[in-house]
Parts: sequence; structure tokens; C-alpha cells
Amino acid sequence: MSAVTAREPATPPNAAPVSPLSTSLRTMMCGDVRAAHGRAVDGVFLHVHRSRDLGGIVFIDLRDRAGLVQVSFDPRWTPSDVLARAGSLGVESVVLVDGTVAERPHDARNPDLATGKVEIRATGLRVVGPAVTPAIPVARVKGEPLPAEELRLRHRHLDLRRPELQANLVLRHRLLQAARGFLATAGFLELETPILTKPTPEGARDYLVPSRVHAGEFYALPQSPQLYKQLFMIAGFDRYFQIARCFRDEDLRADRQPEFTQIDIEASFVTPEDVIGLTERLLGVLFAESGVTIPERFPRMAYAEAMERYGIDRPDLRYGLELYDASAAFRGGELGIARKALDAGGRVRGLRIAASEGAARLSRKQVDELEAIARAAGAGGLIRLRRAGHALEGPAAKFLAADAADQLGLADGDLGLYVADADRVSGPALDRVRQELARRLNRIPPGGALAFVWVYDFPMFERDPSSGHLGAVHHPFTAPHPDDVDSLDSAPERARAVAYDVVLNGTELGGGSIRISDPATQERVFALLGIDAETARARFGFLLDGLRSGAPPHGGIALGFDRIAMLLSGAASLRDVIAFPKTTAARALFEGAPAPVPAAELRDLHIGVE
Ligand code: AMO
Repeated sequence: MSAVTAREPATPPNAAPVSPLSTSLRTMMCGDVRAAHGRAVDGVFLHVHRSRDLGGIVFIDLRDRAGLVQVSFDPRWTPSDVLARAGSLGVESVVLVDGTVAERPHDARNPDLATGKVEIRATGLRVVGPAVTPAIPVARVKGEPLPAEELRLRHRHLDLRRPELQANLVLRHRLLQAARGFLATAGFLELETPILTKPTPEGARDYLVPSRVHAGEFYALPQSPQLYKQLFMIAGFDRYFQIARCFRDEDLRADRQPEFTQIDIEASFVTPEDVIGLTERLLGVLFAESGVTIPERFPRMAYAEAMERYGIDRPDLRYGLELYDASAAFRGGELGIARKALDAGGRVRGLRIAASEGAARLSRKQVDELEAIARAAGAGGLIRLRRAGHALEGPAAKFLAADAADQLGLADGDLGLYVADADRVSGPALDRVRQELARRLNRIPPGGALAFVWVYDFPMFERDPSSGHLGAVHHPFTAPHPDDVDSLDSAPERARAVAYDVVLNGTELGGGSIRISDPATQERVFALLGIDAETARARFGFLLDGLRSGAPPHGGIALGFDRIAMLLSGAASLRDVIAFPKTTAARALFEGAPAPVPAAELRDLHIGVE
């Protein structure tokens, strides 16, 4: 007999075709039932979606993750005891139905359902998982609003049954498989890094885990696998990736979770071009997974340009409404806040809304709302000036010189909105105003426009205005721009980093950099960050030892996977693409975390709680 022999097929050739998800207890999924099955089914199952009793005939929609199917309980084919039980079935119960697949009469077909041409004519019914009355409805009639999110998060087991959330998590699964397939094929090794790590007082606050065996000592949950992935390069693994869970104790927003997932990538002997090209291909594969074709290459914008034109390092390029410097028009005037800002080295920057773009549509009340947005983002206020003929209108107009309207570049009917402050205050505030204006003026192109952009040439450091200390803009392991290495000590704030962020429609999808691979530069950067040699040794000794042991040049990137899943599923919040998310108050409402622990347990951990 030859070594290669034809095997017996797993399914005998005469067996009826079964769904790939059939099991010993169930022959097919609800959403897979088709006329071709035209045969007895024993055990199509899952949750009772809704049920209708039409005077002696009961119709039940059964739902599973494959879809819905209608089951009809009719005295013509259903024994009376089964019919009676069908009539009293509670929604969301888990049932197994025996019966026959039959075509529905033409006038009873449902073109909106994949199974809409057929029904299961039930001959038997077993309730295998009776359900209490659900706290929130799973089946909703078209247009019925969702229950409040807090309620849905409390009853996540029910909310997760909702077809929208099921679709989001199935997409998430497919995206993960696609990322893994792409990266593994490109020679990247999927390697895991620890979850119990060393605390690093950099960036966001750590989540700490007390050690029982070492009193007073703590592990930290990783904010990212950054140092480990660098050590993989030092160890010679050459190309690494990980679908990495990261933990950051920071203020939460719709696009931030305390626990989130990165597609984390690192490679040796790479330039930014290599990482950028790889990321563009990876994003191409991920977007293709949900049927979206994206450009092969993305435009690029230097950090300084992004900050000047959009006030922020993650500009939304789907629409114009760019910022401009209006300082000159205020310099000659008497407006106190402008004077103060200009004297302190700040500027007056703002946005122009042309009459043709709907400036007149913005009522005073709406501008008040825009001002509230600017204030919430840290600005002291929003100066509003409307040009009417040759004159300027608005509370600040009388403090400005006669030719201010021309200097501001406002034509008749145009509206200008300005913030007078340091750029670091006016930028984010005007960005928020710009985003809100784009929504109100319908400037966001319909049909899912995708404006990708790489932002590069970030500064290495930023100075904390209150403490005066330098902090790393990306992280302390980012390589300085080769042209700025010599002036690193003399002009650290002007030094650029070899760092790059990929931004889509105003959301930062990912960020990365080329890393410092020589220990002397790493120590210099630590020193600039105010980390003295002893502290550097204590905190990052393992990295410095690694760099001294022969380190190849290396770099990488991490993509925010939840953000990608959110954008691709059209969800408005990360919570809709994470199975068990936290609220903006960092609580898990479903399982009830965080939670107090018994005093004895705390004692074991050497912790006292006040
Ligand atoms: P960074 O801190 O920029 O880089 O993170 C990379 C990407 O992760 C996503 N992200 C988040 N997503 C959800 N919730 C959060 N709280 C959250 N914080 C960040 C963002 C972000 O772009 N080690 C470096 C990467 C590197 O240099 O290779 C890092 O973690 O989409």
C-alpha cells in the first residue's frame, strides 16, 4: 500500500449535507435553513426571538448567530400538546425544534430574511433552557430605540444577543484572523509578553497588582508591550507581532478604554518607510475584510503643519475649515484677552465660515454652544465676529481697528471664531469647534469617506507648562531625528523624533517609531527627561543591559485594534466592539468590577485600606 492512500471521507457520501456548525444535539443553524434542506430537521435551536399566536396557529422566530428562521406550529402538522406548549413559550428561551423545512406560501414570504422563503413546520418542541422574562428586550421592532446604555451594560448577556453586537464581534474575530494571517505570512512571529510586569511611571498611570509573597511590592499590568518587543529584537527574533491587551489608568472617552487591544508590531533593520508600508498593507487587508478598499498609500503631513492648520496632531481631513493666524488683526486693537495672549507670546487663531458655507445658518445660540465646546476643551472663550457690509458685528468688534474685517479676511456675511491663547490651548479647543462645525454645516462627505494621513516629525519632548519638566511626546525609547541628535542637549524642545502616527478621520489609529538602539543615546534621553542614572538603572536596567548586549536597529508600531473594529463596524463607541467593556467611570457594570475584597485578603497582600 502506498504511503498516501485515499482516506474515507469523514461524512459518508449518502449522508444529507449538514451545516458546518451541526453538532450531536443540533443539525443546523437557524440562519442556514433553506428550501434545499426540504427534509426533517431535528433540533434547529436557539433563542425564541418573538412569537405570534394567530388564533390556533403559533409562529415563532428562532434566532441564533447565523440568523432567524420562522417555525410554524399548526394543527395540520403539529400535535396538539406541542402546539399548546408553543403557545406559552417565553421569549429568549432556548428550544430544540423537530420538524420539516417547507416553502412558505408566496404571500407569506419575507424578502428581508435570508430564510424568508421557508419555514420549519414543527412536529416536536423541547425547551432546553427556559428563560425568565428578559430585563431588556433583544428583539425590537424597527425604529424602537435601544434601552439606556447603562441598563444594557448591566445586562450584557442579553445585549450581546442583539444582532448588531453579534455582527460587531464576528467582524472583530474576522479582523483578528486577517491580521494574524497577514503578519504571519510576512514572517512575523506571534510572541507573547507578560501581563504581570514592572511598574513604569511613564505615560498613563499603571494598574498595579500587589505581590503577596513580597510585601509592599507590586507588579503593573502592561500599558503596552513596548520594552518586551524591543528585547525580542535584541534577542534576534527579527519580526514580532502580538494581539496585545494593554491597560492604562487614564481618563476615559468614547475612544478610550482602560483595557484595550493593540496589534503590536516590531521589526529589526527597518526604516520608517518599511513600517509605514507594512502598516498600509495591513490596514488594506483589514479594511478589505469588511469590503472597503482603501488607498495603497496614505498622504503624509509633518506634525508642525498639522498643528498649524488643524490645531491637533490627528487632523480630520475629510473637510476644510482650516485654522489660521488672525493675530495681526488683533494686534492694533484694544481687546483685553487678545492683548494678554499676544503679550504672553500666544496668538489669536481661529476659523472662518464663509457666507456661502452657511455662516448665516449659525444662530447666536449655536455659536454659544460652540463657545461652550471651546471652553470645555480649555479655552477661556470664543471671540465671534460677523461681517455685515464693511462693519464687524460681535461683542469684541468695538475693540478692533477699523480695517480689522479685511485683516481677518472676512467677506460680507462671513463669520469668524477665534481663541486668544497659547497654541497648546487654542489648538485643541479650535479642533473641537472645527469638528462640531463640520457636523452642523454638513461638511462631512456622506458615504463613509476615509481620510487617512500619516503624521510624522513629532517633537521628541514637550515641556509641562506648570512643572517646566520635559516629557516624552511618544515614549522615552523613540529615536531622535538624525539631524537633531547634535542639538539634543542644547535645544531639546526643537528636536524631532523618528515617530509616526496613522490617523483616520480624526482618530489616531496607531503610532510607532524607530527606537533608540544605542545605550549612550538612551541614557542621554533619560537624562533630558530628568531620569538620573541611578533611577534609569532601577527602572530600565533590563533595557539598558539589552542595548549593551548588541542591539540591532529596530522600530515598529502599535495599532489600536478596538478603534479599527469600531470604525469598520460603524459603531459609535469602543464599548460596542468589546464584549465586556468598562464604562467611562472605569466600571464593569455586568460583572461588577472593581469590587471590595475581604479584609483578610487585603492583609495577605499587605494592604491597608483607609
Ligand atoms: P500608543 O500609546 O500611541 O503607542 O498606542 C498605540 C495605539 O493604541 C490605541 N490606544 C487606545 N485604544 C483604546 N483605548 C485606549 N485607552 C488607548 N490608548 C491607546 C491608539 C493608539 O494609536 N508602545 C507604543 C507603540 C509603539 O511605539 O510601537 C504605544 O503603545 O489607537
